[in-house]
Amino acid sequence: MNPEHLIIFDTTLRDGEQSPGASMTREEKVRIARQLEKMRVDVIEAGFPAASEGDFEAVRAVANAVRNSTVCGLARALERDIDRAGEALRSASSSRIHTFIATSAIHMEKKLRMSPEQVIEQAVKAVQWARRYTDDVEFSPEDAGRSDPDFLCRVLEAVINAGARTLNIPDTVGYSLPDQFGALIRTLRERIPNADKAIFSVHCHNDLGLAVANSISAVLNGARQVECTINGLGERAGNAALEEVVMAVRTRADVFGCTTRIDATQIVPASRLVASITGFAVQPNKAIVGINAFAHESGIHQDGVLKHRETYEIMRAEEVGWSANKMVLGKHSGRNAFRTRLTELGIELASEEAVNAAFVRFKTLADKKHEIFDQDLHALVSDENFDGVPEAYKLVSLKVCSETGEIPRACVVVTVHGEEKSACAEGSGPVDATFKAMEQLAESQTELVLYSVNSITTGTDAQGEVTVRLTKAGRIVNGQGADTDIVVASAIAYLDALNALHLTFERAHPQI
Ligand code: KIV
Ligand code: ZN
Repeated sequence: MNPEHLIIFDTTLRDGEQSPGASMTREEKVRIARQLEKMRVDVIEAGFPAASEGDFEAVRAVANAVRNSTVCGLARALERDIDRAGEALRSASSSRIHTFIATSAIHMEKKLRMSPEQVIEQAVKAVQWARRYTDDVEFSPEDAGRSDPDFLCRVLEAVINAGARTLNIPDTVGYSLPDQFGALIRTLRERIPNADKAIFSVHCHNDLGLAVANSISAVLNGARQVECTINGLGERAGNAALEEVVMAVRTRADVFGCTTRIDATQIVPASRLVASITGFAVQPNKAIVGINAFAHESGIHQDGVLKHRETYEIMRAEEVGWSANKMVLGKHSGRNAFRTRLTELGIELASEEAVNAAFVRFKTLADKKHEIFDQDLHALVSDENFDGVPEAYKLVSLKVCSETGEIPRACVVVTVHGEEKSACAEGSGPVDATFKAMEQLAESQTELVLYSVNSITTGTDAQGEVTVRLTKAGRIVNGQGADTDIVVASAIAYLDALNALHLTFERAHPQI
């Protein structure tokens, strides 16, 4: 018997973006969406169009850019949300509207203040309304993991009759256990009379570290769509990690009656792209995409792998897109070589000006660092301002004095809305002094909640990739910067975060 198709529904751009501090610009979302399309993801949930003007525009941009994956927009079970989603998705070659309403007693009573009958009525109306825009309508009973299964059966039967093609069962708060969650999927499939008219999907959160286990258990019990995110990004502790679900199904094909159409060699590039855009570094021991995922440290393991790889390896690193840290370009490389390598890496810059600007940065970097690796190129283009929106703050120059026994001091020159300004400050270290000097100029009154430095490649000439997370009045923004001088990288990242604060829109939260 041919294995059935398991639909991979990626929600990095929607639920993933709900990770505090992971907000992305429209252009960043388009870049990630293109990578997801290249990876052959079936459905890309691009955002929640009713949440803000920014979300609406981002979903519209993704719908325009993607041709080979279905593009989905989230909507509460409200006509105005669904209209916004329908409008944002108008130019998609294949579109889906995902509408949801909570079905657990606690959510219905305390949050929605609605009776179960009212919830069923609103769910049915929402699905019917969404069908005005597309035949591909997905319905989610939010907090299904804590909902009464009898009630779930009633709601789901009604929305199938109303035209829902996919029934997504979310474990919204990550409370379920694998056996229990698998049994819930089986029960729903067996008890809902018209269950065969819809595909069962799952959407698991990772509060107990069980999101992937719960998703896998659901697949073993007949779910044929998994909602997941790159690197397991998502609300609170995140969602099921796409790379883990895909590789579990592929590596253990002996136990699954289904396969995905994912091009696994695109997994590591996708993981890198999402990590660099969001600033959420991947932990070294993270399955599949962590830097140590295929590293054998102990002598016994190394010996075994050298004698026969399969003694300790169940997957091949190349299968998921790990390639040698190969040197690709240097200071003698020309514009053509640079452009060709970007294309090979799946990086498309928006305009000729963006390519030129990136090339200038590449040449500057190549003067400081002889070997330019793929990771350097990814970082380099992440620093490009793809939006074409003029940046409020730009670094002109930075001078830092740091000496044993002396207080570190930094002097910065920054353009603020085109006007050059300078300031000097002392700090507990060179980075602290730099940030203090910049804050004197920006007067942003933001709070620094995260500062991290990662080495992009190996060696002391490697670029440091810095992430800065700032918060102000409940809004959280990230900034990134990369340079061989980590103080300069820090300054760039700080200004990048300040620029993001200018660009981000207030957005509603889908679960409110
Ligand atoms: O976790 C959740 O319940 C969701 C829904 C909107 C599907 O993200
Ligand atoms: Zn969710």
